[in-house]
Amino acid sequence: MLRHARADFPDGFLFGTATSAYQIEGHAYGGAGPTHWDSFAATPGNVVRAEDGAYACDHYHRYEEDLDLVAGAGFDGYRFSTSWARVMPDGVNVNPEGLDFYDRLVDAMCARGLKPMATLYHWELPQALADVGGWRNGDIADRFADFTTAVMRRIGDRVHSVAPINEPWCVGYLSHFMGLHAPGLRDIRATARAMHHVLVAHGRAIQAMRALGMTGLGCVFNLEWSEPADDSPAAREAAARYDAIYNRFFLGGVFKGAYPDAVMEAFAPHMPDKWQDDFPTIQEPLDWCGLNYYTRKLIGPAPGPWPSLAEVEGPLPKTQMGWEIYPDGLRDFLVRTARDYTGDLPLFVTENGCASAIPFDDADRIAYLDAHLGAVREAIAAGAPVAGYVVWSLLDNYEWALGYEKRFGLVHVDFDTLTRTPKASYRAVAAALDAQQGGA
Ligand code: NOJ
Repeated sequence: MLRHARADFPDGFLFGTATSAYQIEGHAYGGAGPTHWDSFAATPGNVVRAEDGAYACDHYHRYEEDLDLVAGAGFDGYRFSTSWARVMPDGVNVNPEGLDFYDRLVDAMCARGLKPMATLYHWELPQALADVGGWRNGDIADRFADFTTAVMRRIGDRVHSVAPINEPWCVGYLSHFMGLHAPGLRDIRATARAMHHVLVAHGRAIQAMRALGMTGLGCVFNLEWSEPADDSPAAREAAARYDAIYNRFFLGGVFKGAYPDAVMEAFAPHMPDKWQDDFPTIQEPLDWCGLNYYTRKLIGPAPGPWPSLAEVEGPLPKTQMGWEIYPDGLRDFLVRTARDYTGDLPLFVTENGCASAIPFDDADRIAYLDAHLGAVREAIAAGAPVAGYVVWSLLDNYEWALGYEKRFGLVHVDFDTLTRTPKASYRAVAAALDAQQGGA
């Protein structure tokens, strides 16, 4: 049982659950084009067991059943993403089958009374665009605006909200500096450009959607709380640098038109020409801001070049990902984001959840969700304008470089038979949300 129920949250508070295209659809179906995740996964050493999203949960054919599960738990909304390579297999020309799929999917949400919460880009870049530099190439912002227009001309009349890009830190830093996601680079110049271009693309997409007369437009940033590993000034400085790279770069760009000094001291020589001129685009006004939150990191100093920091193993209980469970970080981020960046703008927790190895009776996930819902209530009590909370994820799915082993679903997926089985956490959420059907 969860100790929190719908009635404990403000009127109109939106509860949802999330997935993303490449992680669940089965990219092999429906005429989708190759992506940089396919080639990244096919390169030895990048992904556990070299698994990819070719078949995933076969949501492409089973979306009706999956949306029944969303509605059956009593959720108000469903956060999903549109695959660029499904809609535009070569990154430019439209595949009608791809648009038809998202049209059907959105109709199926509406038929169940679910609010469609769209993300345009959740990481599977068309390979043809990766081949011309991907996020390093500034032209991507215009390509992304074209993709945005093509998708929203078709489904923009029915979506409740749209975020252009999921987790810019992952698109920029994790993928171009740490090399852990596609395209797997470890290059500071590529990183500086990708982190900037991803925000320009975000702004161009917002402009494209405003031109279509759309509202409900926001952003989705992943935040990770950083604590100094000890009391030393060096550890405090390293933790602040981590915070600047991870959290403040993107919030600062979009809401203040400036990047933190602790990042620019390294990025300045690598930025594209006239990058400061892009801030009016990056700063297009938004209707809401979404935060994805999972954990904190203890950070200490490390010898060597920028960013000269190291993660230190923390003492708290951990999830199947090895991530410490730290709900206070969610509360503190919601309060801090409103105070430092977004003011009265509605905030959404667009992702929160945990991986668990327990297949069905996942008491650990119930405890995780319970603690984080409590943190959201504390943030609301402290004055943060939080308007919704979205669980990651509906289904066990493709956890990127960690393959299918890390299970985030409220619903178990047997990847041999593709059978879906609701877990105890699904029933706990359904009870908290007063699901009419009492859960599936
Ligand atoms: C964030 C990402 O948006 C999602 O794709 C991923 O599966 C979850 N976090 C869990 O790591």
